[in-house]
Amino acid sequence: MEFTEVVTGRRSIRQYTEQSVTEQEIEEILTLCRYAPTWKNSQTVRYHVILNAELKNKIAEECTMQFSKNKQNIQNAAGLVILTTKDNISGYEKDGTATTSKGSHWQSFDAGIACQTFCLTAYDKGFGTLIMGIYDESKVKEMLSLTENESVSALIAIGHAEQNPQAPERKPLQDVMKLY
Ligand SMILES: Cc1cc2nc3c(=O)[nH]c(=O)nc-3n(C[C@H](O)[C@H](O)[C@H](O)COP(=O)(O)O)c2cc1C
Repeated sequence: MEFTEVVTGRRSIRQYTEQSVTEQEIEEILTLCRYAPTWKNSQTVRYHVILNAELKNKIAEECTMQFSKNKQNIQNAAGLVILTTKDNISGYEKDGTATTSKGSHWQSFDAGIACQTFCLTAYDKGFGTLIMGIYDESKVKEMLSLTENESVSALIAIGHAEQNPQAPERKPLQDVMKLY
């Protein structure tokens, strides 16, 4: 697929076919995701891959904070990736002091790059994805038995898109570009 098509054609997918996603397919996507840049190459992003329908539906049921749309989004998808990041590494020196005035901001920055790399790679390989920010972090952590120092950065549904929706409108270039 042309890179421009990958960037412009990827959509948030909320309706999926019944077709499954295999462990090998996820491995192919994540093999490429390892090339996403991170703060000082710290590589603190982890991908918890849930292809087990029972666990996926339990997360949909118990971790979506009564936001029924995300409950359905997770139930509809073949798989769910829980993207996490190790705390207090991105943006920090080895002695624990913040390198910049932005503190823990860089942890989310790394997570965002990884998240989009995952979604674009998945789209290039024929899959649909949905990034979800509305979830109950403490319940997700409990469900996966995550340690204290690992934060949940995003939930990503993955599957085969039932249809590719139209792109929601984007702001015109002159609204987002400032030339100096
Ligand atoms: C950080 C982030 C959190 C999001 N959270 C949700 C969510 O909880 N549920 C949902 O249905 N969509 C969620 N979305 C998807 C956005 O609504 C979607 O990306 C946006 O409307 C643009 O549509 P597109 O992805 O098809 O280009 C999220 C997207 C981002 C980047």
